[in-house]
Amino acid sequence: MKKNFKGFMFLLVLALFALLAAGCGDEGEAGSGSGSGVDVGIVLPTKDEPRWVQDEQRFKDALADSDYSTEILFSQGSSAKEKENVEALLNKGIKVLIITPHDGAAAAAAVEAAKADDVTVIAYDRLITDTDAVDYYVTFDSLAVGAAQAQYLVDNAEGKDVPLYLYAGASSDNNAFLFFQGAWEVLQPKIADGTFKIANSSEAEALSDTKELDRDQLSKIIGQVTTNWDPNESKNKAQTHLTSVGEELKGDVAILAPNDGTARSIADVFASDSAVTDYTITGQDAEKASIQYIIDGKQSMTVFKDVRTLVEDAMGMAVDVLDGNDPETTGSYDNGAGEVKAKQTDVIVVDEENVKAELIDSGYYEASEFTGIE
Ligand code: BGC
Repeated sequence: MKKNFKGFMFLLVLALFALLAAGCGDEGEAGSGSGSGVDVGIVLPTKDEPRWVQDEQRFKDALADSDYSTEILFSQGSSAKEKENVEALLNKGIKVLIITPHDGAAAAAAVEAAKADDVTVIAYDRLITDTDAVDYYVTFDSLAVGAAQAQYLVDNAEGKDVPLYLYAGASSDNNAFLFFQGAWEVLQPKIADGTFKIANSSEAEALSDTKELDRDQLSKIIGQVTTNWDPNESKNKAQTHLTSVGEELKGDVAILAPNDGTARSIADVFASDSAVTDYTITGQDAEKASIQYIIDGKQSMTVFKDVRTLVEDAMGMAVDVLDGNDPETTGSYDNGAGEVKAKQTDVIVVDEENVKAELIDSGYYEASEFTGIE
């Protein structure tokens, strides 16, 4: 009896230890750590889009051997949750915050709280606007993303009056402006010369003589054709557009879709309309589902943004800061309150011609994740 009791106590202590150990980590944590606190806090916008789950995975891969401890939290499309996340990380003593805002303007309050705590703030992929609390910005060349999408549509347009359907990202995301601006500068001359005929935006039509749009003009068009980065909203909008146009705006069409998640939704709608004989549709992010769509001929292209480079740049900057060095930057972005020092990465256009070389042979994805790859 006595012996059994001792054994029971031993098991109880073991169980308590296991519980304590489990409580110390959560699925977002990575890195070996340099003490009890967290050195680098990472806040990503949502788990609902594969793009950001991809970033989480690439952060975890990169952090596996780090000397610094990190924690990754998701804001699930809510600025309130984002602020809570930042506060939770500040309470854990972070020195550097890497953050992709859900809403670029609303996130100012969260990063100002971090700044007040002497934390270095790195905006990751999306800029945080109208605040001087952002120290650095790591980003892809977002103007080039839009320009590449538009150039693809131009290169694949045949004849005159090709119906052009325009879609944009969320107005709360500064990138949505950069993508659309980059695209518009390439599309506008081809709208003006009659190659394309805008099918779904009176605001874009009204501005079809203006190549360089200011923020207000961009806002007007984006407000009309926004997807809010939401596949469902994209689908509903595309359905409404196709229901309201005549046959002359169907046939062989061109579609500017801002990213892969919205592209797949929009493509499905266009594919199911019998009066649409063919379509060219853009995307970005090289999400696995879209790579399969490209292999299957359902999405025309994607803009591949190698997240490994962005993660490397962001963590490189964080480590420089922690080690007391000045991070290297390559330029700057105006966020409305001043110039933010930035490091920018190039993007790659991927379509069925080079999908295997760029994404499989390069080791970014495994061939076994797709069907129909030759
Ligand atoms: C990112 C894109 C992403 C989009 C929606 C943008 O800020 O740059 O890669 O597809 O947000 O999440």
